[in-house]
Amino acid sequence: MYRLTDFNVMSSDVRRLPADIEFASTGVPGLEEMLEGKGIPKGYKVVVMGTPGAGKTTLAIQFLVHGCKIGENGIYVSLDEKPFNIFRNMRRVGLDVEPHINERRLSIVDASPIRTLPGEVKVGALSIGKRDFSMAALITSIKSHVEDIGAERLVIDPLTSFLLQFPDEHARRTALMDLLEGIAPLGCTTLLLTELRASSPRRRYQFEEYLAEGVIIMMRYQSSGGIVQSIRVEKMRGVNHDVEPHPYKFTPEGIVVFPSEKVL
Ligand SMILES: Nc1ncnc2c1ncn2[C@@H]1O[C@H](COP(=O)(O)OP(=O)(O)OP(=O)(O)O)[C@@H](O)[C@H]1O
Ligand SMILES: [Mg+2]
Repeated sequence: MYRLTDFNVMSSDVRRLPADIEFASTGVPGLEEMLEGKGIPKGYKVVVMGTPGAGKTTLAIQFLVHGCKIGENGIYVSLDEKPFNIFRNMRRVGLDVEPHINERRLSIVDASPIRTLPGEVKVGALSIGKRDFSMAALITSIKSHVEDIGAERLVIDPLTSFLLQFPDEHARRTALMDLLEGIAPLGCTTLLLTELRASSPRRRYQFEEYLAEGVIIMMRYQSSGGIVQSIRVEKMRGVNHDVEPHPYKFTPEGIVVFPSEKVL
């Protein structure tokens, strides 16, 4: 039985909290300025939501490559495309991951087979439901890669593919909570990439937005003035971030945000 005092926060607990948040710099020029000039609090799990082709994968690879350059190793978990295709495309736009993989600063988990598992998976004499297995397999695989290279950064791309195997929104929400809980002990600063299911200002919020500690939204759309690309920090707990959307561009070095410009 619980006593009320079990839930009290002791002053000794408060003293153990770090004096200030440590930040992981994103490696995306301009995005830093939107985040107190510092980046993403270390250990946060941040959802990067966007319209198709908005640049979610590019931004995430940029975050990992930057981490490799400053001594924060990373893991890229691919749930959709074969990683080979992604890296070939990234190299063509100036983000070369290969040297980092060769020097064991970056590790790749090809988790795309998880989507094509049969309904039941045999593990020894046991038969486990596909969903339970894929959750356990994903967390175990991430954990072993993180430990192997001492990773501090993690990208899961896209979360959508993993969650769609669950039948309804309630089950998907629970699955995401399980996944977040499963990866939390690893302490990695994590980007979870997902689709933006509706983009109107009156859209219904997606459950991912409530569960993550931070949300970044990337949109590419047609306006009367032409194609607009805008990025917005919807939330970043504990950070005094810019709440306005700002334009961004693809450059030969990856994405660059213009925090002093407004979107059309
Ligand atoms: N340096 C660059 N110059 C021009 N275009 C670029 C550059 N880098 C990336 N792109 C283009 O930007 C688009 C988006 O890239 P990316 O794959 O990162 O988007 P995404 O949001 O992950 O897409 P998806 O919804 O398919 O997962 C691609 O069409 C890509 O070719
Ligand atoms: Mg992508």
